[in-house]
Amino acid sequence: MKLIHDIRTTFTISLLGCFLLSCRTEPTLKPAQDLTLNEGFVNPIGFYDATPSFSWKLPQEIQKQTAYHLVVASSPELLSEDPDLWDTGKVRLGQSLYISYKGKPLLSRDKMYWKVRFWNAEDQPSTWSEIAQMELGLLQNEDWQAKWIGLDTRKDSIKGKSNIIIHTPQYLRKEFEVNKQLVSAKLYVTAKGVFKGFINGKTISEDVMSPGWTPYQKRIESLTYDVTDLLKEGDNAIGFQLASGWHFGRLLWNKLIWGQNGSPKVLSQLELLYKDGTKKTIVSDDSWQGTTRGPIRFAEIYDGEIYDANFQMQGWATSDFEVKEWSKVEVAPLENAISIRPKRHHSVRQKTTLDTKEIITPKDGSGVIFNLKQNMLGVPRLRVPMKKGDTLKVRFSEMLDPDGSFYTDNYRSAESTDYYIAAEDGRIDWHPTFTFHGFQYVELSGFDTSKTPKKEWVTGLVQYSDFDKTGYFSSSHDKLNQLQSNINWGLRGNFFDIPTDCPQRDERLGWTGDAQVISPTSIFNNNVHAFWASWLQTLRESQYVDGGIPFVAPDVLENNKVSSGWGDAAVIIPWDIYTRTADTTVLYENYEMMKKWVSHHQSISENYISQMNSFGDWLQPFQAKESNKRGDTSKKLIGTAFFAHAAHLTSKAAEVLGLKEEKEEYQKLYQTVANAFESEFFDNEGKIKNGKATQTAYLLALHFDLLSDTLTKKAEQHLLHKIEEADNHLRTGFLGTPLLPRVLDAMGETDLMYQILLKETYPSWFYSINQGATTMWERWNSYSRLEGYNPESMNSLNHYAYGAVGEWMYERIAGIKPLEPGYKKIQIAPVPGGGLTSAEATYDSPYGEIKSTWKIEGDTFYHDATVPPNTTALLSIISDNVQSVIVNGASLKDFKNGQVIENEDGIITIEVPSGNYSIQTLR
Ligand code: BGC
Repeated sequence: MKLIHDIRTTFTISLLGCFLLSCRTEPTLKPAQDLTLNEGFVNPIGFYDATPSFSWKLPQEIQKQTAYHLVVASSPELLSEDPDLWDTGKVRLGQSLYISYKGKPLLSRDKMYWKVRFWNAEDQPSTWSEIAQMELGLLQNEDWQAKWIGLDTRKDSIKGKSNIIIHTPQYLRKEFEVNKQLVSAKLYVTAKGVFKGFINGKTISEDVMSPGWTPYQKRIESLTYDVTDLLKEGDNAIGFQLASGWHFGRLLWNKLIWGQNGSPKVLSQLELLYKDGTKKTIVSDDSWQGTTRGPIRFAEIYDGEIYDANFQMQGWATSDFEVKEWSKVEVAPLENAISIRPKRHHSVRQKTTLDTKEIITPKDGSGVIFNLKQNMLGVPRLRVPMKKGDTLKVRFSEMLDPDGSFYTDNYRSAESTDYYIAAEDGRIDWHPTFTFHGFQYVELSGFDTSKTPKKEWVTGLVQYSDFDKTGYFSSSHDKLNQLQSNINWGLRGNFFDIPTDCPQRDERLGWTGDAQVISPTSIFNNNVHAFWASWLQTLRESQYVDGGIPFVAPDVLENNKVSSGWGDAAVIIPWDIYTRTADTTVLYENYEMMKKWVSHHQSISENYISQMNSFGDWLQPFQAKESNKRGDTSKKLIGTAFFAHAAHLTSKAAEVLGLKEEKEEYQKLYQTVANAFESEFFDNEGKIKNGKATQTAYLLALHFDLLSDTLTKKAEQHLLHKIEEADNHLRTGFLGTPLLPRVLDAMGETDLMYQILLKETYPSWFYSINQGATTMWERWNSYSRLEGYNPESMNSLNHYAYGAVGEWMYERIAGIKPLEPGYKKIQIAPVPGGGLTSAEATYDSPYGEIKSTWKIEGDTFYHDATVPPNTTALLSIISDNVQSVIVNGASLKDFKNGQVIENEDGIITIEVPSGNYSIQTLR
């Protein structure tokens, strides 16, 4: 409320001021750019939020915004003349991110157009920005006239693994007339299952496995497409292919979760606007027809797809098609309990392709193997010669056994096999539609053996959620660059609508622990703000009544069980996203979930010592009991540490939200739990008691700040000792690994961190690279060149958790770290080491591009840094001699564009406004 009041007061005063002074000034400054809504949406249609927030970036030459003026209108014409939705007037605020909409209420389908101008430090105005726009989707169930439609595929379905029903994919169609001149056509659509839509034979969109995966019993997301260009005057046809997807598919080993009743269904509403102002709506209803006699005969996420070209129905989604033996569809109304809401992040798409690099022809006469030399998630595009009636069998593998044999055991029960049955002689061009695979190798058999296999037969279509890259890192160290590539491919391989553990075996689930571990690194590399915000909604919807957070979200286990370090995703990820983006919405939206999770921690603790179940420091190397995947760190210690940390983060969130009392309350709780933690698990020498002294035990205590100052110092020494004992190797699993660089860094032990990072021997990041890894692995020793796969079947070669070290690579090797939320204030402090002679990173922050590039040449250390507009940075210079440092061509002592704020321990820190800085230091 206070903020609104302030804005209004400022607004009135500034209007007056504007009237008298600055509005008369001719704008000279370049306009704001990159206008976005909420979590970075650019001109969205089918948008999910009727009260969006507005953000923009300033041109690079602007140091500071001091005021802005934002106008919003229902048409571009009104925007300049009479912004009918909202006019902020001149607001004297530097804020250029997430300005909340406070204009006229907006409804489903409403459009808005907006533009902004700003004033710089000298109160000079910019020209107006380009016009951005947004159109809302269908925001409530009442907006749908359409009904769920589909065939009853349960009736004649087959039984698959563990007697689970496999629904035959179906095809649905309807013809309709466009009888007047069309202005626009919007298609609102979703499915129980996964769909692909066609109008007049053309695909509606390139989206993959739509509508994606949400807690279907509560919420299903809808998509909006502008299909105006696909329609023509006269007869038209719309059609859908529909398969089980996550909704009706078997998930998690052998379970069917949501699809226990009914069959896959589509919900489709096509709204036409004619030039004469009249409207026509074509909805899914009982006038549609369907068939299961189409070419996709079988489609399962884990098991693959079967395509029989003999069943092809030429032109089935056009109005010329002769309909024979299609049936009337079943119709069902929308359920009140299930909200149909616009999708709040971008669908999965084919983002890039990988060519075959090598063909291997096994001597034993089994299938020919195509090696893409990169582990990936997606489907193969197959351009393969075939003979009529033959069946092409397509198998997948992440790595071959050292003897060259095709290895699929680590897919466990997932068949992950596609088949194509040819209807004629010739070259096919096909890829599966309703399944996906995790693979590097593709094995083909059943093709026309009179032809010699060619590399172009197999191309990998890489699929993941449609976000852009935001960060780049590289260095003079090849293996470090390979690690960066592996981290990126780990993200590409597991951001498939939700964050998953792995893309290949019978799992592919939204494991919460894995997600919390990777979130900061993921944000550096990709624009995943919306992706995470969306999944957090899924997480809140999956929270148990008692505050427990399930192992996976969407929750396919429904077992009411929790794990410390996993459920803590509920507090850690919102806080991570807030610190990286400055978007307070993520805290507003998730604060209740955070509180409930903290009280759940409390409810299963005794005298503040956690009794919570835990997967522990999952897959810690050299565990005392080899069979134990949960590591050697005490579960109680882990649980208590996360309990304290969750309370601490919740207290910080309360502070940001202006909830003073709650801030105090959670701060107190954090301290109480920390005290209990210290006395339960640490002796007076800062050594672990009541449990095994592991690296992770110390890391948790230190990173979560749970010890008194004296014990902290002592515990740090014990940690160093533990690392030394391990010959400077890590001994950490999922929970400890991300903390290792952070703690060593805070201790000033960056040299040691470099040593650990650059280790070649097991367990280390480079060990997997030395064994041929092109992605992050689930285990530190998932595979070896000599012995092949680790015999454990739970062994994925595409699991992102250990990629969490990517955060340190950006933050400290290259040196870009947020000091204030959203990088309003930035630390640019690279720490050269490990024999590296150069490193660089760029990061597209909410305020613009941040850059840090360094190299060592002879005795000189060169560092170039870019600080984006409307931010400031603390730049670290490795020197204690102001005289010997050159900044932008002049001695630091004469540097005017900033000030030295510290000269300590061989580091000079200068505070600088936005701009480019070129620093030379004698070493
Ligand atoms: C998943 C993990 C997950 C774990 C829980 C595994 O099966 O693949 O990544 O966190 O179970 O311990």
